[in-house]
Amino acid sequence: MSVKKKWRNMAAFRELSVEQRIKTLESEGALSGDCAQLLLEQLAQSGETNIPASVANSMIENQIGRFSLPVGVVRGLKVNGVTRDVLMATEEPSVIAAACNGAKIAAKSLENGVTAHSAHYVTRAQIVFEDADSSVAQKLDSIMRDESKRTAISEVARSAHPSIYQRGGGLERAQAAALTGFAKLTLDINTCDAMGANIANTIGEAVKTQLEGWVGRKALVAILANSSRVATVAEARIPVEALVPGEKDGAAGGAEGTRLARRIAALSSLAAVDAERAATHNKGILNGIVAAAAASGNDTRALQAAAHEWAAKSGRYMPLSTWTLQNNGQILYGRIEIPLQIGTVGGAIASLPMSKVALQLAKVNNANDFRNVLAAVGLVQNLAALCALAGPGIQAGHMRLQAANIAIASGARGDEIQKVAHALLNENSSDLNTSSARIILEDLRKRKNT
Ligand code: MEV
Repeated sequence: MSVKKKWRNMAAFRELSVEQRIKTLESEGALSGDCAQLLLEQLAQSGETNIPASVANSMIENQIGRFSLPVGVVRGLKVNGVTRDVLMATEEPSVIAAACNGAKIAAKSLENGVTAHSAHYVTRAQIVFEDADSSVAQKLDSIMRDESKRTAISEVARSAHPSIYQRGGGLERAQAAALTGFAKLTLDINTCDAMGANIANTIGEAVKTQLEGWVGRKALVAILANSSRVATVAEARIPVEALVPGEKDGAAGGAEGTRLARRIAALSSLAAVDAERAATHNKGILNGIVAAAAASGNDTRALQAAAHEWAAKSGRYMPLSTWTLQNNGQILYGRIEIPLQIGTVGGAIASLPMSKVALQLAKVNNANDFRNVLAAVGLVQNLAALCALAGPGIQAGHMRLQAANIAIASGARGDEIQKVAHALLNENSSDLNTSSARIILEDLRKRKNT
């Protein structure tokens, strides 16, 4: 299928009913019969969440209800040569639309999509002692020099969590360090395809007990570190004319694309010198990554904490992605580098039926593949935001999508929602608000009753 035809099909996907969208994904093989059935049942129950009441009650303490967000799909994101559909859970109206735009543009990159690579991730635990006189630091140092003690630490780790060793993971490295007033032992644990918070905490606490015996003092804390020494990198080299909406060809597309690309590169430079802008730049990246991580049942707070720590690792808060011009300004090169503390097994993933749908749609079978998809999501989400900022600004697109929310807030229900949203947008005012929406709704209902 030609790229142009595929794009037309993607636009058509938006026009389908929810049921038709689910059936389309099933007929394309993107969703298995089981997952399609799950979504159809959820649709039939209208308003019910997909977590059974008994599961919800067992997942958390003092459970009194279920919180639901809409999930939608970003179609056609090409990562490492595979076309993915990415499920996102979000309350922000423009996130999925923007990611679709970014994915469309990235599909025209020289590499035919985004290329991404993940390093070897470990989950880290730290055991920390108070150490005003540096005596513990010295003891930890000599423990780490003693081969029999290092072996003992490995054995403690193995017996604390044998199943992770059976899956090929386990403690890979233990390292002592002195901090001002503290001494710590850091454990790098290979948790395979699990995010590994519980595994790291279990091993960390077991090793802590062993260390306390050797050091002769109680540790202050043993806990995983939501921090990563490695990251995932995703890149795209985009011909500048691909940035122009509506695929203007030839010289016109080229000139406009060149102007947009230059402004996008300037926005990227701005984020590198202004932490205020870097925070918003990174928020745009996380819009997509967090929405996709949430839909897959991952811990989005762990992911964000590690991402922000990475952004500040030079001592100054920096953007997680950069955009620069190459080939005499003809290519816009985007690169994101972000640690992604996620898993494709474990945690809440098995309890949340929607996780299975998310991982299946993204065609991922291991954690690093999912990390590659998430980094690509961040890159294209960022690209879409920068294209809007460098071009017409974001409010035009945002308000078009926000109109439906304003209609709902004004009391519109069912088919009234789209009618009120359309009427609001036709008012041609930049100030869309619930008072105007209420007037439109009252008028609509009056006309219906006469
Ligand atoms: C809005 O949710 C995200 C943006 O503000 C990101 C950015 O400014 O780069 C559009």
